[in-house]
Amino acid sequence: MGPVAKGQKMNQAKLTWTTPPDKPVLASDEVHVWLADLEHPVPQLKTLRDTLSSGELERADRFHFQRDREQFIAARGLLRAILSRYLDRGPDELTFSYGPNGKPALTSESDEGELCFNLSRRQGLALYAVTRGQKIGVDLELIREDLACEQIAERFFSPRENAALQATPMQMRQEAFFTLWTCKESYIKATGTGLSLPLDQFNVLPIATLATKPEVFLSIEKDPEEAARWSLRMLPAAPRYAAALAVEGHLGQLKGWQWRNDTGRPREHRQEFSALDQKPAVHQRRETRVHGDRRIEALGERIQK
Ligand SMILES: CC(C)(COP(=O)(O)OP(=O)(O)OC[C@H]1O[C@@H](n2cnc3c(N)ncnc32)[C@H](O)[C@@H]1OP(=O)(O)O)[C@@H](O)C(=O)NCCC(=O)NCCS
Repeated sequence: MGPVAKGQKMNQAKLTWTTPPDKPVLASDEVHVWLADLEHPVPQLKTLRDTLSSGELERADRFHFQRDREQFIAARGLLRAILSRYLDRGPDELTFSYGPNGKPALTSESDEGELCFNLSRRQGLALYAVTRGQKIGVDLELIREDLACEQIAERFFSPRENAALQATPMQMRQEAFFTLWTCKESYIKATGTGLSLPLDQFNVLPIATLATKPEVFLSIEKDPEEAARWSLRMLPAAPRYAAALAVEGHLGQLKGWQWRNDTGRPREHRQEFSALDQKPAVHQRRETRVHGDRRIEALGERIQK
C-alpha cells in the first residue's frame, strides 16, 4: 500500500525481539510487547496450568481439541507469568475481571490495576502487550493464501481500505488484507467495545510498509476526535504472520520481548506435547486451526453462500 495519509506523530523505531530481564521496568510512556511460542513440553504446560484459576481451567476443558486446549492453557499461563514480572505477586495470585464484551483486565484491588494488557494468539504463537494506564489492543493473524480476502474486504472494510487494497499489487494483496484486518481488530480490542462501531465506519491506513514506517493512520469520519485519541502500528511478529497494536494516546517507547521456552527445544518434538491429560481418542486428532482462524474462515464461508 502506498502513502495514503499524513500520520500522527508516533514511535518510528524498528522493533526487535530480545530476551527480557526477570523484572522488566515499564515506564509510564512505554509499551512492552511479548512474543511467545505456545507449544510447550508437558512438564512446562503442567507448571503453567497450575497457575490458572478454576474459571480458566473450566474454559480450557470446554475446548474440543487437545491442541486448542493446550494452547489456551499455555497462553493464559504465560499471560500470568508475564504480568507477574511487573508485579509483586505470583502468577497464580492474579485475578481478572471482564468487560461487557469479554475484555480481560487485572482486578484493580491495588495500584496493579493500572497495568493494562491485551493478547492475541494464533497457530501456536501468542502476542501480548502491556502498558501503564493506557487502553491497549493487539491482534495476530496467520497470512493465509486460501481465503477469499477481497470478498471479505468488500463486505467488511471501508471504501478507503478497499481502495488501498485494490491499489496493492496482486502478489502482496493477501498480506495487505491481513495487515488491515489486524489493524482494525487491534483498535476494536483496544477499545474493548466489540463491534459497537461498525467495521466499515473507520479507516486504518498504513502510511507505508512495516519495514519502512510501521505507523498506521486511524480515521473515523463521524468522530475525528475519537480517532485522534489512538495510536496504531504494525508489528513484525514472525514470517507469514501479520500483527498490529493500538494504544490509547501517544505511543512512546516500544520494547519487544521474546518469551523463552526453558528447554529451548525445537517445535518438532511433537510427541512431548501430547497427553497433558487423558482425553478420548477424538481429542488426539490433529487440529491445525485454532479458534480465531475458524472465525475468520466463517466470515469467508458466509460471504460465499
Ligand atoms: C473476541 C475478539 C477479541 C476477537 O478475538 P480473536 O481475534 O478471535 O482472538 P485473539 O486471539 O486475537 O484475542 C483473544 C483474546 O483477546 C482478549 N479479549 C476477549 N474479548 C475481548 C474484547 N472484547 N476486547 C479486547 N480483548 C478481548 C482475551 O484475552 C482473549 O484471549 P483468551 O481467549 O485467552 O481469553 C473480538 O474482537 C471479536 O470477536 N472480534 C471479531 C470482530 C471481527 O469480525 N473483526 C474483524 C476485523 S476486520
